[in-house]
Amino acid sequence: MYNIREVQKDIWWVGASDRRLQLFENAYATPDGMSYNNYLILDDKTCLMDGIDDAVSRQFFDNLTKALDGRELDYMVVQHMEPDHCACIPELLLRYPKLKIVGSQKAIQMIGQFYHIDVDSVVVKEKDTLELGHHTLTFYTAPMVHWPEVIVSFDASTGTLFSADAFGAFGAMSGNIFADEVDWEHDWKDEARRYYANIVGKYGVQTTALLKKLETLDLKMILPLHAHLWRNDLNTIIELYKSWASYTPEKKSVAVFYGSVYGHTGNAADILSMKLAELGVRDVKVYDVSKTEVSYLVSTAFEYSTLVFASATYNAEIFDNMHTFLTDLKNHNLTGRTVGIIENGSWAKFANKKMEEILVSMKNMTILEPKISVTSSVDESALAELDVMAKALAETVK
Ligand code: FEO
Repeated sequence: MYNIREVQKDIWWVGASDRRLQLFENAYATPDGMSYNNYLILDDKTCLMDGIDDAVSRQFFDNLTKALDGRELDYMVVQHMEPDHCACIPELLLRYPKLKIVGSQKAIQMIGQFYHIDVDSVVVKEKDTLELGHHTLTFYTAPMVHWPEVIVSFDASTGTLFSADAFGAFGAMSGNIFADEVDWEHDWKDEARRYYANIVGKYGVQTTALLKKLETLDLKMILPLHAHLWRNDLNTIIELYKSWASYTPEKKSVAVFYGSVYGHTGNAADILSMKLAELGVRDVKVYDVSKTEVSYLVSTAFEYSTLVFASATYNAEIFDNMHTFLTDLKNHNLTGRTVGIIENGSWAKFANKKMEEILVSMKNMTILEPKISVTSSVDESALAELDVMAKALAETVK
């Protein structure tokens, strides 16, 4: 049965949520599922803004059929050719054989790559338009937010931006599809940051370029492909995106990440966090990198100004999960953090050297002294060093 909602006159939300999904992109934990938005514009012409993931396509087709109410589907704008939005294209073409597909040259090429079909296409470039009747869509390229083919679409008559992956979040929605219908700051901001940092975070330069284009538009509504729709307080999400895209930390505080085999490295991290608290540092966070899924760690690293990495030496290397985490941060282009490092080893200590190699290959990372080296477990000498490190870290967040 259909489940649709009018977003504004002529524009309907026809999306769906998947609460069974465990891993988005088969990589990122989604304990609260995932939502997939798409929109149908009912004008002189009918136009579907993006498709949907296979897992929820039955719901989508029920929705689309109802919203069209017997009309033909004239256009589908493929803003983003990732299969979580496009898996339904072959079925759409079977149901609506006269459908014209609108997208960038790369998007149209990718349809062939994924589905080995020819489509009746309209290729669009920067500031090209598509007239639907009362609504005219203007397209803006947004390469690498999050794939190279991405465009966003602006309807000047209503100030509506169809923003593709930008401004999305992890998590299924619960009827309240507008951000002003939920406690977004409390319940959704963390998942929006985790989504941005992990999915788009590598492409801060490109995201900043898109944000600059948007500054020229009179935005009244933002309709992303995942999670909540914005019709009020658009600056809430836009300002956050400016921070995230420029790798500017939201919080001046310390996040401590440890990789510990038997708990002794974890003990050093806990001692350090207590010393930080005693020095007046608020909101310190400590994570065991073997316990917390790495996408949450990446998100916290985007949020915090000062990071500590504490790792056991393992096979003469960084402890595996810490290695994965640091590599992820590098791959996501995290820049401009102050960093402390702590290693542990019982017969050979390599973790600090190896962690430093990764950190110095990232842009604008400041590694604090002292670098701490624990031998098997924290002793009085390491305790004194942790004291010095805590004071140095506290200075950075004053
Ligand atoms: Fe929601 Fe990049 O796909």
